[in-house]
Amino acid sequence: MTGVSNPAAGLTTTRAPFIELAQQQGQLYIHQPYELYTEANHEAWRRLFARMEDRWRRYANPHFLKGIDNLCLDPARVPRLEDVNRFLSPLTGFSAKAVSGYVPAFLFFDCLRNREFPTTITIRDAATLDYLPEPDIFHDIAGHVPMHTDPAFANTLVRFGACAHTAAELVAAIPDEAERIRRLTSIQKALARFFWFTIEFGLMRDGSQLKAYGSGLLSSYGELQHAIDSPVVQRYPVQLEWVINQYFEIDHYQPLLFIVDSFDHLFELVGELEEWMRQGRLDNVSPGEPAVSAGDLRSFLEAADRH
Ligand SMILES: [Fe+2]
Repeated sequence: MTGVSNPAAGLTTTRAPFIELAQQQGQLYIHQPYELYTEANHEAWRRLFARMEDRWRRYANPHFLKGIDNLCLDPARVPRLEDVNRFLSPLTGFSAKAVSGYVPAFLFFDCLRNREFPTTITIRDAATLDYLPEPDIFHDIAGHVPMHTDPAFANTLVRFGACAHTAAELVAAIPDEAERIRRLTSIQKALARFFWFTIEFGLMRDGSQLKAYGSGLLSSYGELQHAIDSPVVQRYPVQLEWVINQYFEIDHYQPLLFIVDSFDHLFELVGELEEWMRQGRLDNVSPGEPAVSAGDLRSFLEAADRH
């Protein structure tokens, strides 16, 4: 409740009274109360954006750069989602949808399937520009949304979102509750790992060079350069069997990254992922991170019940 008594925090990550209230009231989908952003919030956006521009030109894939231009983001002010959507929706049908916090896994997938991207509206404190465990509006709008302007990438996300329905449908046919949970846990781990090593941290070939298309890289000043240039990072052509069995940790730069050839390639991989799910090949992936939360499991079980 500390934030509620501190309106000066505006929409700063973990200290926003508006968000705390929405969470207390159980509101997941919210509006963006733009007037609550403080000058310090806008200043954080300005500094984050300004230092990324050079790095994007050097390390981001061309689809992202085109997307940044197409969205006409103001480098000096936190974006209004309605302005972002005015440019985004005509291109691919995607829109950014404001949320109050973590979206349970099935709902997140379902949003993607419906061309909606759950978007955090808070922004990190200017004192912690470099590291933030939770997403903020810079990560979501400057890291993810430019990719959603690309039709091939957008179609890939939709196809990935649809995988959740396949999972719910498959486990709905399992009568035993414990087995249902065991299999769902494994499938969700596989899906989360796929998302992590592609959508969040993926690299793509660009002629003889490598460029980033993963949003975790594209929104990180330090890691974007590290991912492409550092000799300590292992970079391999993507292999589905490896990705779905590879654990990851979120609190340091990624030591292992996977490369796709193109978004058509990524689209095919998602198709393969779904096929493997149907064949039971995601039912026993290796244990380890990421953990599957009770809320994530519940969201899938409820969806299975509707099948
Ligand atoms: Fe993300």
